[in-house]
Amino acid sequence: MEQSTFLRKGLLYLQPKKTAMPEIPFPVDTWNRQFEQNDASGILTFFLQYFGGKIAFSSSMGAEDQVITHMISRINPKTSIFTLDTGRLFPETCDLIQSTGVRYGINIKVYFPDTAKVEEMVTGKGINLFYESVENRKLCCHIRKIEPLKRAFSGLSAWVSGLRKSQSVTRNGIQTVEWDETNRLVKINPLASWTEEQVWNYIKENKIPYNPLHSKGYPSIGCMPCTRAIFPGEDIRAGRWWWENSDSRECGLHVKE
Ligand code: ADX
Ligand code: SF4
Repeated sequence: MEQSTFLRKGLLYLQPKKTAMPEIPFPVDTWNRQFEQNDASGILTFFLQYFGGKIAFSSSMGAEDQVITHMISRINPKTSIFTLDTGRLFPETCDLIQSTGVRYGINIKVYFPDTAKVEEMVTGKGINLFYESVENRKLCCHIRKIEPLKRAFSGLSAWVSGLRKSQSVTRNGIQTVEWDETNRLVKINPLASWTEEQVWNYIKENKIPYNPLHSKGYPSIGCMPCTRAIFPGEDIRAGRWWWENSDSRECGLHVKE
């Protein structure tokens, strides 16, 4: 057999059998290899340009997110940045939404939950339903966070998140570039490999505004009734939904199908 034909056939036999794996319309693995050595700002520069108006940054106003907002405002201050106001945020977080917009001259779009759905949930299950069961807590997160997030994603091809591997056991497998099958979007985690120390050094060096609660024992900040300060030596996400087991403590924003 001619060598080229042999090689072609050989390659044909090596083709993996077709499975029900989702078709990913972007070269996610190649990008991960390509950006292995890149700094977060370089990664953002590439993807903000690549996806143009079809990429947005989802900011919780946490320390990592403030680093990303700072970088984005230097690369392209017209980039879409949004935050989800669940109606149960700390006043300090609301103040930071306002002051960050002013500091960087950017418009942070705020998404709110559907009023009728919140009213129905609260009427049926009580205003603090989340303490009753994981199911109730997930329902509240779904109505107050996930549904508005879906609206924020409308028309996008990619989103940026401030996730880091070392934030928790549920996050140590994340990559810089991922295919988010749930939302069928490319997900960019530019700080995936950063340590907490790197985040804080960057914030201090660049005088980035941050939530004052971080200095009062709150390394990870979500909704007020579901976040407490941590004790010395505790895990950095120990204050989030602290009454639940650590393996259920995700709100669904980053859950993979
Ligand atoms: S959470 O899922 O437990 O709430 P966490 O507070 O660690 O998440 O934040 C991780 C990332 O999720 C943030 O960097 C941000 O990209 C996104 N995120 C979390 N909460 C919000 C929010 N309220 N608005 C927008 N993005 C958010
Ligand atoms: Fe509701 Fe708590 Fe989830 Fe906020 S974090 S949406 S208050 S359950």
